[in-house]
Amino acid sequence: MINYYFANFKMNMTFEDIKSYTDSLLKVVDDKKNKVGLFVPYTVLWQTKELLKDTNILVGAQNVHYEDAGAFTGEINASMLKECNCDMVLVGHSERRKYFKETNIEINKKIKQLMKHNIKVVFCIGETKQDRIQGNAKNVLCQQLSRGLSGIYENELENILIAYEPVWAIGTGETASNKLIEESICHIKEIIKDLYNSAISEKIRVIYGGSVTPQNIKTLSKIKTIHGFLIGGASLNYNNFAEIINN
Ligand code: PGA
Repeated sequence: MINYYFANFKMNMTFEDIKSYTDSLLKVVDDKKNKVGLFVPYTVLWQTKELLKDTNILVGAQNVHYEDAGAFTGEINASMLKECNCDMVLVGHSERRKYFKETNIEINKKIKQLMKHNIKVVFCIGETKQDRIQGNAKNVLCQQLSRGLSGIYENELENILIAYEPVWAIGTGETASNKLIEESICHIKEIIKDLYNSAISEKIRVIYGGSVTPQNIKTLSKIKTIHGFLIGGASLNYNNFAEIINN
């Protein structure tokens, strides 16, 4: 069943922007029927959560540091996010892997920290164009999942949602085909089955991200094994995000 609709605002949106955005969004979407969430910049996290406290809209951060505390100038730890009542955190987004050189090992430490603080995780994985051309996509997904989830207990997976986001589809307008997404979800489930067991693999929820728009949402929604979408560029306009949710 498709019911997760998460917006990734990336490095966009002031609190003023978010106030008018959520005001308009709540008039046109049913936040009880769907699990709607916003990944906002750190600077507006607490205020946004306060603003939305009487709604069902989830509020998340786009990153976290993997240490408990210490001399890490400019970083934010999981207890600071907890203090902001943060519901969830994006981990392993391809922009973090690419521009900030995040490794699977660091991603794994971040997931562990978040589990320790009882904060839900949207764990992003996905292959590059080159991985796909070289026939290496499944292997890359396997590495990302096995290293990222290393030491994560079966019961903790309830708090982890996998976001399959092929790197070449993010922000490019080049959405993956339904067939490719279906195949990738199938690989992800096989990998989870090998890492854990078939019951967990059946239960694990996978969402898709990569150039999702109001124009392609009808087609993408035909994928039976998908649980929702992570939307970047198109989510910056509440009308577009609402159109995607209401589809
Ligand atoms: P996009 O971004 O929708 O702009 O492709 C998705 C994401 O980065 O999560």
